[in-house]
Amino acid sequence: MYHCGTPMILEHIASGMYGAVVVEPREGYPTKADREYVVIQSEFYAKPDPEKRKVDGAPVYVLDGDRLRAAQPTYTVFNGVHNGLVKHPLVTKAGERVRLYVLNVGPSKTSSFHVVGTIFDRVWLEGNPDNQLRGSQTVLLGSSNSAIVEFMIPENGSYIMVDHHFANASQGAIGLVSTNVKAEEKDLEHHNMPATETAPTAAAAVAGKMAFESKCLACHSIGQGKKLGPDMAGVTRRRSDDWLKRWLKAPEKMLATDKDAKAMLKQHNNIPMPNQGLSDKEIGQYIDYFHWVDARGSSDSSASAH
Ligand code: HEC
Repeated sequence: MYHCGTPMILEHIASGMYGAVVVEPREGYPTKADREYVVIQSEFYAKPDPEKRKVDGAPVYVLDGDRLRAAQPTYTVFNGVHNGLVKHPLVTKAGERVRLYVLNVGPSKTSSFHVVGTIFDRVWLEGNPDNQLRGSQTVLLGSSNSAIVEFMIPENGSYIMVDHHFANASQGAIGLVSTNVKAEEKDLEHHNMPATETAPTAAAAVAGKMAFESKCLACHSIGQGKKLGPDMAGVTRRRSDDWLKRWLKAPEKMLATDKDAKAMLKQHNNIPMPNQGLSDKEIGQYIDYFHWVDARGSSDSSASAH
């Protein structure tokens, strides 16, 4: 969420000075969605204009400061329009996976976001795939909280999105995800990664991945280029397992004796990799993980760089 940050912030957000930005994970999302929509929940605090002004013949409403400070909205809505997503449902088809980017901008209420007739099979709080929930019926969003929710459309019908705080739903926070409508397909945008496996399954490779992410990412990436040390993508193609074992056990020994290690050190501004104090078991796990990465074949951009 971004929003106006000068006083009075409350008035500014209540007047619509906000928006949503989706920051996608560099590697994409781990699922493949058929439909993606952004749903923003917000509150209106309105009263008839005391000066009785009109625009195009229609009466003007102005911000009601008393209701605003008491957090008593007149309308709570999705995407800025009272019952707008009932009149214009989000389009889907039976069997599809729908991904909603849900943001509650408030300014002052909490949303209990729910889609009747579905189960959120993935919820990524704040849009971060590391913050994953499975099998949720409702996601709780404080003011400015967001979540990506995904669900399958089991069969034809209209699935009702609500803020399950039903007082809020009764003020307009309601909408439909429906198979009964057609939309122009050309506007749809997709943000999927290719349908490849995204996590290793063999126990050793899983352990290696976790250990790599906690101990090695400071100096290495996988498929995203050189950091202090080389990109690990393709490392099992440029080095033998035996070489990797000896390297991970004692890089300082290798740097003293092995000509490939010496050449690598030169390419890295003579900054040597510190000995990581790894056990043989851990070393095996890292190597299994590197093999899994290279077997996927998708991130071999630097395979011939060394
Ligand atoms: C403080 C930074 C740093 C950390 C932490 C680090 N490395 Fe390195 N690593 C380097 C540097 C720098 C090089 C290359 C330069 C050299 O030492 O010759 C390197 C080289 C390597 C190589 C050889 C790559 C090739 O292309 O042949 C492997 C494999 C490797 N590191 C694995 C790991 C693993 C696994 C971890 C985590 C347990 C790790 N490194 C942690 C800095 C680091």
